[in-house]
Amino acid sequence: MKISSKRLSFRFFTHEDFPLFYSVFSNETVMRYAWIDKISSEESAYTFFEGFINTGEEVNKDGSYAFAVFSKEGDGFIGFADIQIHSRNNSGGCGEIGYFLLPEYWGKGFATEIANALIEFGFTRLGLHKLSARCNSNNLKSEGIMKKAGMTLEGELRKVRFKNGSWDGEKNYGILLEEWKVANH
Ligand SMILES: CC(C)(COP(=O)(O)OP(=O)(O)OC[C@H]1O[C@@H](n2cnc3c(N)ncnc32)[C@H](O)[C@@H]1OP(=O)(O)O)[C@@H](O)C(=O)NCCC(=O)NCCS
Repeated sequence: MKISSKRLSFRFFTHEDFPLFYSVFSNETVMRYAWIDKISSEESAYTFFEGFINTGEEVNKDGSYAFAVFSKEGDGFIGFADIQIHSRNNSGGCGEIGYFLLPEYWGKGFATEIANALIEFGFTRLGLHKLSARCNSNNLKSEGIMKKAGMTLEGELRKVRFKNGSWDGEKNYGILLEEWKVANH
């Protein structure tokens, strides 16, 4: 499956994409605030990677739709984006979006473009009724994306992520289908 936004194209990962995936999840700068630590061996990363390969319309083994994201200008791989699906049924479902960009592509508004594209995908193509995102409370860049994507702060969990030598908080943001429709029509 492919999706597209103004400057970016998104497609599912294939087995051949392991080097792209590894370049993101083994990067110390990228993983500074992530929920997992950086991956430091290709062997341990491969099984993790395989969970993110989608082959059809259904979720992958990780329970998500995961995309390799490319810049339309020059076709460069810029990073990883996904929607994790929870509680889906005939009347809706919840999705959690995530994005991890290679540092050379930060500061160009790409993550906000990705967040908006994932939200649109979740609401219009997957039929979800709510999308959320969460971040380490110290990850101000990530929190900024959630705000720019029209999400509302729903709560902050205290001291739930051990990162960089301390227990950090986690901020949870969300947007409902009806809110997104009002903002986008
Ligand atoms: C957090 C992360 C995704 C942010 O990516 P990003 O693309 O730099 O984020 P944004 O979309 O907010 O863009 C950043 C800036 O580019 C600017 N920008 C430059 N050119 C732009 C353009 N043409 N269009 C829009 N914005 C542009 C924006 O103004 C924005 O500035 P602001 O922060 O003052 O609003 C990135 O740093 C990252 O991958 N970090 C590591 C992984 C991570 O923490 N992921 C989140 C886990 S919860």
